[in-house]
Amino acid sequence: MTANVTQLKSQNSATLTDNSSNKRIDFPMLEGSVGPKVIDIRKLYAETGHFTYDPGFTSTASCESKITYIDGDEGVLLYRGYPIEELAEHSDFSEVCYLLLKGELPSASEKRKFEHDITVHTMVHEQLTRFYQGFRRDAHPMAVLCGVVGALSAFYHDSLDISDARQRMIASHRLIAKLPTIAAMAYKYSVGQPFMYPRNDLNYAENFLYMTFGVPCEEYKVNKTVARALDKLFMLHADHEQNASTSTVRLAGSSGANPFACIAAGIATLWGPAHGGANEAVLQMLQEIGSKDRIPEFIRKVKAKEEGVRLMGFGHRVYKNYDPRAKVIQKSCHEVLGELGVKDEPLLEIAMELERIALQDDYFVQRKLYPNVDFYSGIIYKAMGFPTAMFTALFAVARTVGWIAQWNEMIEDPAQKIGRPRQLYTGHGRRAYVPLHRRG
Ligand code: ACO
Repeated sequence: MTANVTQLKSQNSATLTDNSSNKRIDFPMLEGSVGPKVIDIRKLYAETGHFTYDPGFTSTASCESKITYIDGDEGVLLYRGYPIEELAEHSDFSEVCYLLLKGELPSASEKRKFEHDITVHTMVHEQLTRFYQGFRRDAHPMAVLCGVVGALSAFYHDSLDISDARQRMIASHRLIAKLPTIAAMAYKYSVGQPFMYPRNDLNYAENFLYMTFGVPCEEYKVNKTVARALDKLFMLHADHEQNASTSTVRLAGSSGANPFACIAAGIATLWGPAHGGANEAVLQMLQEIGSKDRIPEFIRKVKAKEEGVRLMGFGHRVYKNYDPRAKVIQKSCHEVLGELGVKDEPLLEIAMELERIALQDDYFVQRKLYPNVDFYSGIIYKAMGFPTAMFTALFAVARTVGWIAQWNEMIEDPAQKIGRPRQLYTGHGRRAYVPLHRRG
């Protein structure tokens, strides 16, 4: 592994003029390896007594990172410098996990060792299986994941010391290895079938399919095309820079919280419909539209912003162009449906027609709204046999490696501090307490 030399260096500076005091203050500009320059405002409060105001972090870089790069205008996504399209075509999920965690693609022997390191952790502590009985059978898998992943902290005390690099790596391997087991168990519990122990002779995606759809009384034959498509979907979802769930993991981790607790926080954030929950929302939307002739009426409602109606699976905070992951998924969607003999899937037809209409409608064009990763993924998951409620859990399985790579990077960063944003306070100023009997 080559050492990553930090790319930050001061070039020009930015000058802020405070009109109230006529004071001019220079702030250094930092330059990354690619992407926009960044104004370093760390001294702003000390020098001016002012904060910046940036709800939603639309203009704020919260950290330095070497893991993932996105150029939203060009529709580019790189993992450690490698374009996502090339990885999706030629690589596999275990290699991508290694790349994200360690910074370089593995050699053949490094890959074998890494796969071994992961597979030895695929089982969960037997006592953890009893947690499931505490949930209702109709619990959402993401609710189960939040609880069970958080509970891992109560089982693996030998990998909680975040100051020990070896323990951090063991916790990372455990999380990557156990998430498919935990997610598959959430599904099994919901349908009343026995949990399936992992099979370490299968690869990551194959084993997940086996644990989800296999039953003890029958042999389960992995469909290679389906497994390869799932592996590809896992690669596409593995990391995505400082999105809401990753930023949550970093923020939780900045307090020194253990990795299992941090990933549980990431899972909770991913669940929201504006983030990972969108894949589930897309399918519900397509089902509600129901037929191609109802699309114009739906588009009208979206444009009228009726009751907050949005075209789910469209738009992205960073991509103002086609999400490169959506392109790969759209192609994969046709392959999987072909392999599974799903002819004329009506939801795919509705999705394609929606996309066609939206891409030429002024409302979407002007706002640069393009399909994102979630637009087609749900259709593939449905064809593979996953119930809609499992879609976001699949996202969580894939994103765990990104979260844990970002968490490790943060812990190792000497500039790391507890994350503590400030605020623009608009509430009451100081006032005297009014006793209950004097309140009107
Ligand atoms: N459908 C209709 N209009 C939209 C959509 C959409 N999907 N997305 C954005 N807009 C409109 C907004 O109404 C707004 O219009 P306005 O300027 O007239 O007020 C404008 O586009 C900008 O939208 P914002 O909400 O300010 O954009 P933001 O960057 O905050 O939101 C988000 C990004 C949350 C992804 C948004 O596009 C959205 O809700 N999309 C649908 C949900 C979705 O697919 N999420 C998955 C994202 S990818 C991921 O997390 C894996």
